Amino acid sequence: MIQLPKDEPRKPQPEPHNFFIWGATMSGKSYFASFFPHPLSLNTDGNAKQGSVPDIQIRNIRGKDGKLTQSVIEQLDGVITQLQTTPHTFKTILVDVIDDICVMIEQAICIDNNVQTLNDIPFGKGFSTFNSILQRFVMDLKALPMNVIYISRELIITDEKTNTSEAVPSLKTKYYNIVNGNCDLVIHTQKFGNDTYTRTVTDRRAKYKPENIKDARVRKLLETCNGMFEK
Ligand SMILES: Nc1ncnc2c1ncn2[C@@H]1O[C@H](COP(=O)(O)OP(=O)(O)OP(=O)(O)O)[C@@H](O)[C@H]1O
Ligand SMILES: [Mg+2]
Repeated sequence: MIQLPKDEPRKPQPEPHNFFIWGATMSGKSYFASFFPHPLSLNTDGNAKQGSVPDIQIRNIRGKDGKLTQSVIEQLDGVITQLQTTPHTFKTILVDVIDDICVMIEQAICIDNNVQTLNDIPFGKGFSTFNSILQRFVMDLKALPMNVIYISRELIITDEKTNTSEAVPSLKTKYYNIVNGNCDLVIHTQKFGNDTYTRTVTDRRAKYKPENIKDARVRKLLETCNGMFEK
């Protein structure tokens, strides 16, 4: 039977577990994420061998007939099932990079439907299938008792009128909203010159306090981000 909670105010103790890290290539996204406790990387770039984090390569594989012999949709489902059902020691999952995973999900839907783009699937069914797969992936990850880190590249948008430019996450806005609606902290990584790396909090769900971050390692990492805690 469902038990209702007591009708009394609760004292919130906000602690971030879902992170979105974005930045230009080589700006230190994967490097920073790799210091989170016990990471497992869902990697798309194929060169994770260069990194130190245990990884699963996420990709669509096509057979000779052009059909998928491995679909990222099934692969991601399988990873989540394993994380939910088998004992393991991982504490952080890195989605490196979410932009590619979105493209690969699109690709898998298109191949399964024998079309070139989601737009070619009638009645908007391509887009709705995509949205529900991405939403389920994000919700399933969020429900795991782990930190989740989405990594995204950077896009420079130039306003020709004012001749100014702005860096933004490269994940398409509608996908960004799905992913970010489930994130607590957004962190921008930047590299200046040859070896100055910075991390800046660009959005947050709550004003976090160091004493609320239970994991000392995560607290230390977040302390290196500008604008994380109030001085
Ligand atoms: N804070 C840092 N201090 C020292 N070295 C760093 C730091 N951040 C990154 N580096 C170095 O910079 C290199 C590139 O960093 P990293 O691989 O994290 O970039 P990235 O943003 O993930 O790039 P990509 O988008 O290409 O995957 C790493 O090999 C690492 O040695
Ligand atoms: Mg990287």
